[in-house]
Amino acid sequence: MTTTSDAATFWDRETSSPTHTSWMENVAVRGYINTWIMGRSDGWPFKWFTEFLQTRGTPRFERALSIGCGTGPLERDLINRDLCGVVDAFDGSLASVEIARREAVRAGHGDRIHYFIADFNRPALPRRQYDAVFFHQSLHHVSKLEKLLAAVSRSLKPGGLLYLDEYIGPSRFDWNDDLIAVHRKMFSSMVPREARRVESLSLPIQADDPSEAIRSSEIMPKVECGFDVVAIRPYGGSLLSVLYPWIDWTAAPDRLLQQLFDSERSLLESGTLPHYHALVVATPKRGLRGLTARADYFFRPKLRRLRWELRRRILSKDAPF
Ligand SMILES: C[S@@+](CC[C@H](N)C(=O)[O-])C[C@H]1O[C@@H](n2cnc3c(N)ncnc32)[C@H](O)[C@@H]1O
Repeated sequence: MTTTSDAATFWDRETSSPTHTSWMENVAVRGYINTWIMGRSDGWPFKWFTEFLQTRGTPRFERALSIGCGTGPLERDLINRDLCGVVDAFDGSLASVEIARREAVRAGHGDRIHYFIADFNRPALPRRQYDAVFFHQSLHHVSKLEKLLAAVSRSLKPGGLLYLDEYIGPSRFDWNDDLIAVHRKMFSSMVPREARRVESLSLPIQADDPSEAIRSSEIMPKVECGFDVVAIRPYGGSLLSVLYPWIDWTAAPDRLLQQLFDSERSLLESGTLPHYHALVVATPKRGLRGLTARADYFFRPKLRRLRWELRRRILSKDAPF
């Protein structure tokens, strides 16, 4: 991706003047997420990860990579907690990387965080260089999932870890009236009319960022193809992330957020909705299993493209038969 592509243009703009509201911006929501992760409201993802690393006996990484780093909060956190010696990090948005670089220098980490601009759909990662590779809310923007995951697997040293903190819910092309029926029902039954920013929920497809949720529902199957998941902490968002931006919180009753937490919990526990977000730690498959996975990552997208092409030709009636 170049910085003039649609996604980079969106993120260049969004970085300086945000137009989207995320459920994660709310402090009480963070407490709810943390409770899913560690059973308590101050159980931040990296607290959980630090404990996880300690039980594994690998408390610190020498060198890590952060992919789709944005303005860099994850890298600064990694260094502040001394989880990592040196971090390489990249993003397609020049404006974001400039802020990340400036903030790293301001925090005194300029010599330990190295930023560059790159397109994660055209990965060129060094082989066997990293002890850990991090994605924080960025893998759900990747269209070449197989290509990038294969490159990540190759870039990890033996024993290296893949860390995801991601949206793994429906992809932008999955949404339909059936899938959103439960969200619409909860919106109209729980949110008082005066606190609704819209009468009824539209399908949650972000039109101004074409990379949003491009293949998010395929993330877990694709990760599991090439990696062994060693830990997973799902943290919901299945009801909340969809409803939250459409509620006028200045007009909402105080109890509404807690009611939404309770409803989401029961929808998740009853299996009515799957978790839309998760922390995942995984290690690359090696040996014969690794070879099979790499073949899968290589051939499956080609088969997919072939199927699309055939379907396109059949639909446009210029099929070769
Ligand atoms: C939701 S933001 C997450 C940013 C950061 N990881 C964070 O959590 O604050 C997604 C990021 O992916 C980046 N991105 C989108 N498409 C990209 C591409 N093709 N190559 C590299 N970065 C891309 C955007 O510029 C944006 O910074």
